[in-house]
Amino acid sequence: MEIIEYKIEKLNIDDLKEVLELVREVFMEFEAPDYNIEGVNSFFKFANYETLLKKLDEDLEIFASKHDNKIVGMIAVSEYKHITLLFVDKEYQRKGIATKLINRVKEHCIKNNKNLEYMTVNSSPYAKNFYHKLGFKDTDLEREVDGIKFTPMKMIPYTFIQYNEKYFDKLYLMKKECFKWYVEKIYGPWDDNVQIEFFNKLIEEHKSDIKVIKCRDEIIGMYTNYLIDVEKDERKYIEDEINLFYIDKKYQNSGIGKNILVNQLIEDKIKNINTDLQVFKENPARFLYEKVGFEIYEETKTHYKMKRKVIKNE
Ligand SMILES: CC(C)(COP(=O)(O)OP(=O)(O)OC[C@H]1O[C@@H](n2cnc3c(N)ncnc32)[C@H](O)[C@@H]1OP(=O)(O)O)[C@@H](O)C(=O)NCCC(=O)NCCS
Repeated sequence: MEIIEYKIEKLNIDDLKEVLELVREVFMEFEAPDYNIEGVNSFFKFANYETLLKKLDEDLEIFASKHDNKIVGMIAVSEYKHITLLFVDKEYQRKGIATKLINRVKEHCIKNNKNLEYMTVNSSPYAKNFYHKLGFKDTDLEREVDGIKFTPMKMIPYTFIQYNEKYFDKLYLMKKECFKWYVEKIYGPWDDNVQIEFFNKLIEEHKSDIKVIKCRDEIIGMYTNYLIDVEKDERKYIEDEINLFYIDKKYQNSGIGKNILVNQLIEDKIKNINTDLQVFKENPARFLYEKVGFEIYEETKTHYKMKRKVIKNE
């Protein structure tokens, strides 16, 4: 399957007119139906050439996603934290473009804003489900200002860094805190010696695939995925296996895990490969996996095996 590349770049001022055409078209089709005339007018008081040109001189930055030199998506960010104007051409929606635009500004904000606590957005009624799917959380009820309806939301920005031995102890203790209860329920008392040896073995095996999750200068978890060869009914194919995935209790339920998974699933969908994982039967993480599209396909005494299928006929 052909994998289409979308280049994301900071907007060149010469492209501002082209990007505004995209905004007008997508806004009128997807957002305007939720607004009254006052709301539509307020929107274009902001989203017009003169105002944006001025804002670009102040605290606004725009990034555009291009395909074959055509602008197919855009995102604007202000004060290195607040997302505004996220638009994707109708023909290019549901290909992960908006998700990648958000990732790009997130990295940009982390790099340039040392005090960054949250990425924020005022979601349009249309985009609410999209942002929730990515792990954004509402911070207030829907509001209406000058005819524009929006729901304020936020997300904790995180990044991946390479595994290093110096993180071993912290990651081990975090793993213990996350899984001790399930392990003890099934196998008896947690034995640090056995568990450290087991953890060490897993790390050695998957070292190059481990991503350590970092948030506001803190190590908050790990995420690992790698490709495996599968042979089933005389067919051979590749699957993406997720393993060693956990987040510090303090940061659980903040949307980070969901965001990591949704990003992974978009990548795997583009590559046309299924995504596989297993979860302790009593672990409520199963519900998150179900929410993002995994289904149980097998159960063992202790685990559910789950898969997000893109190859539908197997
Ligand atoms: C919202 C918008 C930016 C999303 O762009 P996109 O490039 O299609 O989004 P992605 O492909 O990155 O979506 C990632 C995941 O989010 C979810 N998602 C995307 N659009 C969704 C929608 N309209 N409703 C529910 N879920 C949605 C899907 O689960 C999707 O993954 P999947 O297609 O594999 O299931 C686009 O629909 C748009 O331009 N809408 C109109 C303008 C708008 O409302 N902008 C927001 C202003 S705050």
